[in-house]
Amino acid sequence: MRVGIILYSMTGNTLSVGEQLMERLRSRGMDATLMEIKVLSDDPDEAIVEIIDKPDLSQFDQLVFASPVHAFNLSRVMKTYLGEIDSLDGKDCLLFVTHHFPKAWMGGNQALRQMRQRVVKKNGLVKQSFCINWSSKNRDQDIRHLLDDAFH
Ligand SMILES: Cc1cc2nc3c(=O)[nH]c(=O)nc-3n(C[C@H](O)[C@H](O)[C@H](O)COP(=O)(O)O)c2cc1C
Repeated sequence: MRVGIILYSMTGNTLSVGEQLMERLRSRGMDATLMEIKVLSDDPDEAIVEIIDKPDLSQFDQLVFASPVHAFNLSRVMKTYLGEIDSLDGKDCLLFVTHHFPKAWMGGNQALRQMRQRVVKKNGLVKQSFCINWSSKNRDQDIRHLLDDAFH
């Protein structure tokens, strides 16, 4: 099973969870690869999102998509990326977002919903989704929960 961890991270939080997940999956004997979506400009107010590094998903059997929450929504970069990819061919997908505001309803839940809709539209099977609140005292515990449960 080849697992692709496809993520956008502007300030490194989502990336750090993605890296931990890659290590954990590898420690379980899975063939996990992390690929970052790279854009010309990270400015969230940029009129057009121009993706310069667009991970190819055809090589993977299972996928993880991860993104920060921006302005109570899924980041525009992840929205754009998921709009541009080909069909996910019924592959199992795990989703997670990281956010900063204290409650998940302040963007986290909405962003996960938006990511789920886009993945389903591309014929991905969303098996699990997680919301990591970066400012929570339970952050490490929530990350542990994600790492322990991923693809079980
Ligand atoms: C432009 C911008 C908008 C943001 N908007 C929100 C928001 O609406 N709700 C929230 O909880 N966090 C918000 N955040 C915080 C990020 O979601 C949070 O710090 C996240 O973990 C960053 O992930 P990254 O380091 O992978 O980019 C925002 C951050 C930025 C830079």
